Amino acid sequence: MVKKKTLRLELNNKNFEIAGRIIREGGLVSFPTETVYGLGADAINPDAVTSIYEAKGRPGDNPLIVHIASLKDIEEIAYIDEDRGLPREVICKLMDRFWPGPITFILRKKETIPDITSGGLSTVGIRMPESPVAREFIKVAGRPIAAPSANISGRPSPTTWQDVIEDMDGRIDAVLIGEPCSVGIESTVLDVTGDIATIVRPGFITPTMIRDITPVRYDKSLAKSPDDEDFKPIAPGMKYKHYAPKAKVRIARTRSVADKLYSSAKKEGKEAFIIDYENDSKRAAEDFFKRLRALDRKGAEIIFIVELFDSDFSYSVMNRMLKSAGYDVVE
Ligand code: TXA
Ligand code: MG
Repeated sequence: MVKKKTLRLELNNKNFEIAGRIIREGGLVSFPTETVYGLGADAINPDAVTSIYEAKGRPGDNPLIVHIASLKDIEEIAYIDEDRGLPREVICKLMDRFWPGPITFILRKKETIPDITSGGLSTVGIRMPESPVAREFIKVAGRPIAAPSANISGRPSPTTWQDVIEDMDGRIDAVLIGEPCSVGIESTVLDVTGDIATIVRPGFITPTMIRDITPVRYDKSLAKSPDDEDFKPIAPGMKYKHYAPKAKVRIARTRSVADKLYSSAKKEGKEAFIIDYENDSKRAAEDFFKRLRALDRKGAEIIFIVELFDSDFSYSVMNRMLKSAGYDVVE
C-alpha cells in the first residue's frame, strides 16, 4: 500500500468541504460518531470501499455499515415496504425512536449498493449517527458513507482521534478531529428482515428499549463461543477475533478472583493490571477500548477484567470484554 499523508482536519466549514471532496474522489476519511470513530468511504464506489478493506486489513466477507444523514437517503439504498420482514410501520417506528443514534438496521439492499460494501450479502446495514459532526460530514460529502470502525482489523475500536492516528496514520487521507466518543462501543445491529427483530450485535440500544415497540431477541450465536459447533452468527463480523490488545486478557467473575489472579501474576514478575468498573457499564463502555490501548502502551502483559452485571447494557459491554479475552473466564 502506498503511504499517504494523513490530514488532521479541525472542525470548520472549509475542512468539511475538504473531507467531502476526498470522499467524492474515492478517498478515505475517518470521522467521529457517538459510538466509535468510523473509517469512511463513498458506499457506492466499489474502488473506494475496497481501499477501506486494505487500510484495515479486514476480511472481504465482513460487510460494512452504510451511514446516512437523513431518512430520505434510505430510499436509494434499501427496501422497507416488503411482504417479508417486519411491517413497514414497525420499522419506521423503530427508526423514529432511535435515529439519529447508536443503532444499525439490517434491510434488504438495492442494486446501488455494490457487493463489496455488503460483503456479498443481499442485505445492508444502515445507520444514521447522532453525532452532529458525523451527519454534517455525510451531508457535505453528498454520498452514503460506508464505514467500519477506524482500527486495524482485530484491534480495539478507536474512541478518540488520536487512537485513529495510532492505527491509520499514513493509510488514510484524513481524520476529522472531533471529541472522544460518548458511548464508546459500536452500535447495536438489529436485523429487521425476518419475522422477529433480532439483535445480531449488542450495543447501547438494548432489548428493554426495543421491546416497547416490537418483540426482540438476540441472535442465539451471541451466547456461544467461536469454539462451539453451532456458532453461526448472523453478523459475519461476530466470528472474527476482536479487540485484542497485545496483552493477554482474562475475565474474573468477581473482584476477589481478580485480586488473587493479579497477586500470582505479580509474583511471577508479570506486568499485570486489573480493570474494574465497579459494575458501572456506561462508564465501562466509554472507557474500555481507550484503556486497552493505554495498557498496551504501558507494556501490559496480562489484564484481569472484573465482570459487569448491572443492566441489560452490561451484556453489550461484556460482549466486547469477552471477545478481548478470547472467552477466557475465571470463576
Ligand atoms: O457504531 C458502529 O456501528 C461503528 C460506527 C463507525 O458507526 N461501525 C462499526 O462498523 O462498528 P464495523 O464494520 O466495525 O462493524 C459492522 C458490524 C459487523 O459485525 C458486520 O458483520 C455487521 O455489522 N453487519 C454489517 N452489515 C451486515 C449485514 N448486512 N448483515 C449482518 N451483519 C452485518
Ligand atoms: Mg469494528
